[in-house]
Amino acid sequence: MILDIKTYPDKVLTKKTKPVGEVDAAIKKLIDDMVETLYAKRGAGLAANQVGESKRIAVIDIGEGLVVFINPKISKKKGSAIMAEGCLSFPGLEIEIARPEKIEVEYTDRRGQIQKRKASDLLARVICHEADHLKGKTMLDRLPLLTRLKLKRQLRKK
Ligand code: NI
Repeated sequence: MILDIKTYPDKVLTKKTKPVGEVDAAIKKLIDDMVETLYAKRGAGLAANQVGESKRIAVIDIGEGLVVFINPKISKKKGSAIMAEGCLSFPGLEIEIARPEKIEVEYTDRRGQIQKRKASDLLARVICHEADHLKGKTMLDRLPLLTRLKLKRQLRKK
């Protein structure tokens, strides 16, 4: 089922999500729906709160295969790179954001197994973007204060 995407300033996007306990049938169904939604909307990543579910789950595919992250935690960060970034919750908006170049992330997979993996460049960027969503942070929170305030004002007017 393709789910509706919540767009900024929907409150669910700025609230910290709840960690997932057991990966049960309901969680798996939510993951399947998120994956379907990710591909239907041609996104690179999608966090559960973007579809209104305040749970710590993100699905990512940057064109190299699907990865499901449950309770992701970025344990290492290295370097910094600036690149234009978009988000399904901010249709039409692209902003340059600094992110780590390399990361290490610990998470639970769809089978409930604990995993750890390294990522760099675009994948690292998208994982950081989704991990931010799950903390109730959007791309706006990564901008310098004045740019952020100006952009927030513009977005509220729309
Ligand atoms: Ni996003």
